[in-house]
Amino acid sequence: FKRVTTHILSEMKLKGEKIAMLTSYDFSMASIVDKAGVDVILVGDSASNVMAGHETTLPITLDQMIYHGASVVRAVNRALVVVDLPFGTYQGNSKEALCSSIRIMKECSADAVKLEGGREILESVNRILSAGIPVMGHLGLTPQSIHKFGTYAVRAKEEEEATKLLEDAKMLEEAGCFALVLEKIPASLATKVAESLTIPVIGIGAGGGVDGQVLVAHDMLGITQEFSPRFLRRYHNLFAEMKGAVENYIEDVKSKDFPSEREQY
Ligand code: KIV
Ligand code: NA
Repeated sequence: FKRVTTHILSEMKLKGEKIAMLTSYDFSMASIVDKAGVDVILVGDSASNVMAGHETTLPITLDQMIYHGASVVRAVNRALVVVDLPFGTYQGNSKEALCSSIRIMKECSADAVKLEGGREILESVNRILSAGIPVMGHLGLTPQSIHKFGTYAVRAKEEEEATKLLEDAKMLEEAGCFALVLEKIPASLATKVAESLTIPVIGIGAGGGVDGQVLVAHDMLGITQEFSPRFLRRYHNLFAEMKGAVENYIEDVKSKDFPSEREQY
């Protein structure tokens, strides 16, 4: 099988073949997700919540993202690997944006970076692209701006924000981004964006009219528990399964069932 490239993703959009994307933050999860055949693996800054237990994505550092990214890349044979630029490493300073992206590309051997925002970060996007680094955009609910929004509610329900989002999407495409993530916006708006752009649009909580879907792997596997938005489909309850297995182990240790004769030297 061949590796997924940005070119293959744009071909998939042309053919109407949906793109499947999931997050991974470590070697073990990434090898499962890649072997299952997902097209794109996102090393999301959601690692800040899922891996480190923070309330928001803001605290995670570039060094930490690079650790996660490098661990994922070592496991992947097929998927395109995109690494999030964390908060504070690209906004308002295009030179820093380029330096952060170069570190991700070199130290992780990643395939691309993802940044949150539109016109506000256009200069950074342009400068990263000028170095030949593929950029994925991210509009709608952008969690690094949670303190500006004040809520994780659906974005762009009003005309003004919807118009700005469509303009930003076109701006990112024109700049040369290879794909765009739309998070938690009305399905009708997401469909309109996907139809207006030639680059693939990947949705999370953005309905079925886009070119692909992304979820946090730990959420769709049911490893995380508290997070339960409408857009999340749970394919398993791994929290309960893993907890049950650990309980069985504890029981076996306490009852001296483990280890048995066959499990010792
Ligand atoms: O960090 C992340 O997991 C993301 C996806 C939800 C798109 O950015
Ligand atoms: Na993210």
